[in-house]
Amino acid sequence: MATLHLGDIVPDFETETTSGTIRFHDWLGSSWGLLFSHPADFTPVCTTELGRVANLNEEFKKRNVKCLAISVDPLDSHKKWINDINETQNANVQFPIIADPERKVAELYDMIHPNALATQTVRSVYFIDPNKKLRAQITYPASTGRNFAEILRVIDSLQLTDNYQVATPADWQQGDECVIVPSIKDPEEIQTKFPQGYRQLKPYLRMTPQPNLKKK
Ligand code: BEZ
Repeated sequence: MATLHLGDIVPDFETETTSGTIRFHDWLGSSWGLLFSHPADFTPVCTTELGRVANLNEEFKKRNVKCLAISVDPLDSHKKWINDINETQNANVQFPIIADPERKVAELYDMIHPNALATQTVRSVYFIDPNKKLRAQITYPASTGRNFAEILRVIDSLQLTDNYQVATPADWQQGDECVIVPSIKDPEEIQTKFPQGYRQLKPYLRMTPQPNLKKK
């Protein structure tokens, strides 16, 4: 396992999942990908997390994101556990869960952090763009369930950057002003790219209405 850095093409693999065998890059196609690990099946926090991802299906779909979960549990365990997730979280898990008892994918993606959990995956999340590049990554311990609203917020920020050349400031939420990336300096280019206008607080700090929304 080599260290994965932002901007790297993520490693490809073939694996068993609850939706059959997949080759990761082919399965992603032209979508964004969210690959996320959990420590173990039939555990409380993980049950709430996978239920949450299932219940956010429409939000991921809107953003052209395919979700793929993974733990080191075997396929039959995942299949039984899905019934519990659906029952207790009022969900319908449709996304695949990788069965990785030999830890091939877990090790390829450095999801096992032995000083935290000896043999299980921690709560890693890999945000992958349609070019298969790693665009963001977060890691939480087993005891902290992830905030999937924050995960959607990160996806929105990445997609705004790709589509409109804006960055998002601290605590940005949908509808808030965005930041014009510092690499754009030419005033004519700014006028063309940001027709809704902008506020210049400093030459390096220029705020513009969120470009994919009409000004209120
Ligand atoms: C949980 O999902 O609740 C969990 C899993 C492993 C360790 C601690 C908590």
